[in-house]
Amino acid sequence: MSANRKIGIGIIGAGRRGIFCLGSRIAESTKETGFEVRAVCDVNPTRMNEAAGYLTRKFSESGISLKISQHSQYQNLIDDPAVELIMVTTPSYAHRDPTILALRSGKKVYLDKPIAQNIEDSIAIMEEEMQTGNSLIMGFTRRYETPWRKAFSHVQQGVIGDLHMIQIRAIIPYDVYGHTWRRRRKWSGGALNDKASHHFDAINWFAQSSAKHISAIGGQAVYKPDPTAPERCSECSRECNYRMEAKPSRNLTQQYQDVLPMEGDSWSQETQEIYRIDNCVYLPGSDIKDHAIVQVAYDNGVVASLFWSIFGPHADDQETLELVGSNGRIILKRHTAELDIVSHYGEFHEVINYKDDAFETSHFGADLKLIRDMRSFFDGESPIVSAQHGFESTRMVMATHQSIDNVGQTVLMKDIPSTNR
Ligand SMILES: NC(=O)c1ccc[n+]([C@@H]2O[C@H](COP(=O)([O-])OP(=O)(O)OC[C@H]3O[C@@H](n4cnc5c(N)ncnc54)[C@H](O)[C@@H]3O)[C@@H](O)[C@H]2O)c1
Repeated sequence: MSANRKIGIGIIGAGRRGIFCLGSRIAESTKETGFEVRAVCDVNPTRMNEAAGYLTRKFSESGISLKISQHSQYQNLIDDPAVELIMVTTPSYAHRDPTILALRSGKKVYLDKPIAQNIEDSIAIMEEEMQTGNSLIMGFTRRYETPWRKAFSHVQQGVIGDLHMIQIRAIIPYDVYGHTWRRRRKWSGGALNDKASHHFDAINWFAQSSAKHISAIGGQAVYKPDPTAPERCSECSRECNYRMEAKPSRNLTQQYQDVLPMEGDSWSQETQEIYRIDNCVYLPGSDIKDHAIVQVAYDNGVVASLFWSIFGPHADDQETLELVGSNGRIILKRHTAELDIVSHYGEFHEVINYKDDAFETSHFGADLKLIRDMRSFFDGESPIVSAQHGFESTRMVMATHQSIDNVGQTVLMKDIPSTNR
């Protein structure tokens, strides 16, 4: 990788993921990767202007003076000769068209997870990838986090014998799912698609096999529609634990720096439910599951379980991964970067902390590593996480919804639509 070679990036969807998580990390690591954001595209012109201003300042902090073009049409960004790598960070309901056009351009493409909000759009992206032979890279963050990679290599090295069982416990109080476009299944594919697609991808990765059948129970327990709810937080004076400010008036804690807008009026000025980020979590219309217990059986005999909610307390064990092998087990705590390993039938026990310098940056350091891996991808390496991985996790989300809607009925993965790959 040579940072002397400058590579122009265009970001389609200048929102919180594209600009605050990824754009910021690109600017911070520009001297190492040579990546420079040269263009942004958004349906909201004020947001696009805020994003260009924010990133220009971030790059100037890294000693780089940039002119960032603004395109209201994504085709113009894709055609922009200054752009060599296209990042699609639009909401999931708007992944398909820009991704297909980006793949068709022959330029390198990054697509954030999930692959899309429904199976039809997911298949359309997969088919375009096959036809063009242009493979994209995806943003499933756990694949880029050091402790997860270390756990995977311990399993591959046989530290716990043969892997038989996987469990992810994800109790993540994340009311953003009720406030934003994620609140309706037709826009996000549900919180299961937006959040648990990460978990399905992670268990697929560790299982090293294909899911055979799935059964699940769950529902909507906390973020439930209330006909007396106000439209949005800014017009509400109730006591509420789920208040979202579209224009933050306080100093943001590190935890929120990457999910809330940091400046500008573009979010508070939004009027439609689909674009607002401070919809009341109880506003009728939301039809997403907010908790589930999912069981997955794999072709190779591995079994997995997901114990998942988007409500609950803030705690340092919000997300854990547990791996059980024939003579040992590993417990990973995502929030502390710790691996607790018992091996050789209990003869050895060690706790290793894999916190590194990147850990305090967004998504426990994953976004910075993702940017570095994206440079290797630009240079011709295979994507660490491919569209096929994204497709499989969204198919599992579809099976999970189907099972929950049929009170836990077992769903065979072969009955969920797929491609001919
Ligand atoms: N990998 C991760 O951990 C992670 C984290 C957060 C979000 N995401 C994903 O990133 C994507 C974006 O999420 P977000 O939180 O940034 O959403 P967001 O609502 O903050 O931003 C999306 C932006 O896209 C713009 N937009 C909408 N339709 C568009 C279109 N047709 N063309 C151009 N711009 C359009 C919106 O105006 C908005 O500015 C989603 O798919 C989400 O699931 C991934």
